[in-house]
Amino acid sequence: MKQRVLLAWPWLWLWLLAATAGSPSSDTFASTTFSSSASSSSSSSSSSSGSSSSNSNSLVSSSITRSFSSTLPTSTFASFTEDFPFPPGHEFRFTLPLYNVSIPENSIGKTYVVPEERMGIKLASPDSNLDIRFRIMSGDRDKFFKAEERTVGDFCFLLIRTRTGNVDVLNRERKDRYVLEVRATLNRGDGKNRVAIMEADATVVVTILDTNDLNPLFYPTEYEATVTEDTPLHRSILRVIAEDADLGRNGEIYYSFAEETDQFAVHPVSGVITLTRPLR
Ligand SMILES: *[C@@H]1O[C@H](CO)[C@@H](O)[C@H](O)[C@H]1NC(C)=O
Repeated sequence: MKQRVLLAWPWLWLWLLAATAGSPSSDTFASTTFSSSASSSSSSSSSSSGSSSSNSNSLVSSSITRSFSSTLPTSTFASFTEDFPFPPGHEFRFTLPLYNVSIPENSIGKTYVVPEERMGIKLASPDSNLDIRFRIMSGDRDKFFKAEERTVGDFCFLLIRTRTGNVDVLNRERKDRYVLEVRATLNRGDGKNRVAIMEADATVVVTILDTNDLNPLFYPTEYEATVTEDTPLHRSILRVIAEDADLGRNGEIYYSFAEETDQFAVHPVSGVITLTRPLR
């Protein structure tokens, strides 16, 4: 049933176009319209949501006017032909609903997050004049990030970078993950007249990577031990412990004496201090 409605629409448009445009060859009309309606029926059969049918209608009608625009006076179709690069079967949507990306903590401004795979929207054909914008809708309360778009060939890349002029920096020990909701809009018109004609959303999970930015801290900060004269060599006198909030290798701690001494030794990993020379 839905397919029938969709199929009917192109013909209605054809009729309207023919009525407004006057004389251009109706053969061209018929063949182009037919191919458009064929592709719309295949896409509508695969789409399941209820709201998509009215959406598809406008897509169908618009993609048809687009295909005519080359054969008709452009002024007649000024209101139709600006965009609609997403014909039926090629929806305006992100390649995935969720992307994982990462960025080192303490990154300076204009550092781009590193995605595991390309993020963005596939276009039906290369078109660098499309007005596609990305915006971070939520998940970035402190405004660390900025979304940018860059179209290369038939792909509009979503890029996310740190803002310049941030007072604060990303700090893994404070927050190690940001879940950003990003909205893409396909717009037409400019300035005040810009309107979004299509929207698509995706989630970008930003994992903040650790850098070795924290010094280990001793706890407690002072130790005291009494050593008798006859303490045997290499027996444990005391063990010191420090902690580091950094992760993994960045959090590994090696102990040594701040001032060199032959009298004592500290085990680099365990922190155990022993006597190496007799005290007598
Ligand atoms: C993102 O990472 C999570 C685990 O952190 C994983 O479960 C998920 O499959 C990943 N998604 C993609 C699209 O890579």
